[in-house]
Amino acid sequence: MIHVETFYDETTGTGSYVIHDKSALRAAIIDPVLHFDVSSGAVSTTLADKQLAYLHSNNLHLDYICDTHAHADHLSAAAYLKQKTTAQTVISQGIGEVQQRFSAQFNKPVVNDLSALYDILVKDGDSLYLGDERLLVMATPGHTSDSVSYIAGNNIFVGDTLFMPDVGTARCDFPGGDAAQLYRSILRIHELDDNTVIWVCHDYPPDNRPVKLHTTVGNSRRKNIHVNQNMNENDFIRVRTRRDATLATPKLLYPSLQVNLWGALLPEAEDNGNRYIKIPLTTKGVF
Ligand SMILES: [Fe+2]
Repeated sequence: MIHVETFYDETTGTGSYVIHDKSALRAAIIDPVLHFDVSSGAVSTTLADKQLAYLHSNNLHLDYICDTHAHADHLSAAAYLKQKTTAQTVISQGIGEVQQRFSAQFNKPVVNDLSALYDILVKDGDSLYLGDERLLVMATPGHTSDSVSYIAGNNIFVGDTLFMPDVGTARCDFPGGDAAQLYRSILRIHELDDNTVIWVCHDYPPDNRPVKLHTTVGNSRRKNIHVNQNMNENDFIRVRTRRDATLATPKLLYPSLQVNLWGALLPEAEDNGNRYIKIPLTTKGVF
């Protein structure tokens, strides 16, 4: 039996999960968060440390640190957690393509041997095991080209493939995003058993609704405002594209990408001992 423990980062509205097999006491962390304050440059590990304390107090052995995709709104704490444990980091093999896409923008080299940055690169249909419990990988591209979901017992961890039914879906306008692909990925999720619990990576609740990080496949299929059973692919693409045109650049876009696409490692220290995050400037027509 799989137990799911939710950890919520209020600053970025991120849901991060510690899941474990109750008999074997083997655990995985899904979408860990490293706090980063863009104004001060302060990095902190508060949420990841809470997860480590939870593992310790429940006698759990951490086997895997999984990311669902190349997050563009928060930094992953995967490298930090790896350094503190014997767990292996897990991400989609599609991360290489995303890294290549952004490498010129950050003037950071493409790392061809991704095993230098991540321990396990997964693809659709791959399985990992927590004791006897299977963690099945389902490729769910669309929000990003490398997005995967993880199925464990009666649960699916969908990253940003779906949000709560009253919020809908995540944007598809980042380079490599594709609304048609996202629609088809969601159809695959909606084909799972109605009672399957969907755990999302973010919630941006409408006014007065408390944060909620899980729903069911049945609820999502019937009620999701962007992609319910009454809407076809063209309806979805229209709604999604119109909404994407209104969205601002995420506050942590550049910090997130230049860390998360290179093994969730912070940039190397320069010769003065400091590490720096780069922001590529758009200067066309100004200078
Ligand atoms: Fe995302």
